[in-house]
Amino acid sequence: MKTRIVKAIGDPEADREVMEEAGRIIRSGGLVAIPTETVYGLAGDALNPRSAGKIYETKGRPSDNPLIVHIADTGSIGRIARDIPDMAYRLAEAYWPGPLTMVLNKTDAVPKETTGGLDTVAVRLPVNKIAREFIAASGGYIAAPSANLSGKPSCTRASHCIEDLDGKIEMIIDGGEVGIGLESTIVDLTEERPCILRQGYINEEMLHSVLGDVRTDPPESAHPKAPGMKYRHYAPGGVLSIVKGKRESVIARINELAASHKERGESCAVISASENASEYGNVIVKDAGSLRNEDEIARRIFSILRELDSDGVQYIYSENFDTPRLGAAITDRMNRAAGFCVINATEED
Ligand code: TXA
Ligand code: MG
Repeated sequence: MKTRIVKAIGDPEADREVMEEAGRIIRSGGLVAIPTETVYGLAGDALNPRSAGKIYETKGRPSDNPLIVHIADTGSIGRIARDIPDMAYRLAEAYWPGPLTMVLNKTDAVPKETTGGLDTVAVRLPVNKIAREFIAASGGYIAAPSANLSGKPSCTRASHCIEDLDGKIEMIIDGGEVGIGLESTIVDLTEERPCILRQGYINEEMLHSVLGDVRTDPPESAHPKAPGMKYRHYAPGGVLSIVKGKRESVIARINELAASHKERGESCAVISASENASEYGNVIVKDAGSLRNEDEIARRIFSILRELDSDGVQYIYSENFDTPRLGAAITDRMNRAAGFCVINATEED
């Protein structure tokens, strides 16, 4: 298949032709990769069971892993979700449009193929203008997992989508680099006590301020409530470990490990905060951004994992980016990428 790669800027006039074409593709059961504020998505018609099947097949994703349904306005929610609790409207008021997904009970309009067999549906109203033009032009209900092939880091630029999807889907819409770089926060509202299933830009404190009570699904649970959290994610080709502890101990330990890889003739890289980047020797240094700018670290992290993959680096050590606002979300993604291999550099000092 020939994949059309087109640009959009988020202006309805300028994007009209692209959106008309994209809408036709979606309505006839095809797939389009689209930018959102979090990561790029692989979009299909959420109400068409065959589109869901195509999404699973294209990504190489297990079909029990449900898809998020994206809408363009809050009013669309009634067709796909039922028994919507008051707390959903409060969250929508506070954080929609934006990087927040809510799990609700589904209506019969949503095929089981889209929800991986579940009776619930995950719903998100993105803030990205291109995404919303696209959803509106495509019938209003778009299933979109992250656009990466299953197991690869999420796509934060159109070039990542081209790497993974060129020749496999009808169209890729290039909207430039995404703003956030981490997938949306997911909160389950189907039980009395709301539960965070995936950490993201809308952090625990922000949810707490609206909901009062909120709990978190444990990160290494064998039966996570978001089925996707049980699969190893974002795994780079090399062996990735997270090194945590006091700054000096982390730097010393990584330098020690890097030196031993060098001795054995193995390639090695470190993912470092800008503040520490000049402290490392014998090693490729990937600067993730300043600890004073955690938004930059969040935005860059998946792209760095992809770069390390294409460089074919064998061993990767990452500092632990436990920053105040986005630390929980960044750490979650990095720990998963590392298969929860965490070295505590302070403990053994
Ligand atoms: O930011 C995002 O959410 C991006 C962009 C494209 O919108 N999408 C995204 O989708 O990250 P995906 O498919 O990569 O991750 C969706 C996660 C999976 O872990 C899945 O298991 C969970 O959401 N999920 C979807 N529907 C669910 C449901 N009904 N109940 C529980 N978890 C659900
Ligand atoms: Mg994903």
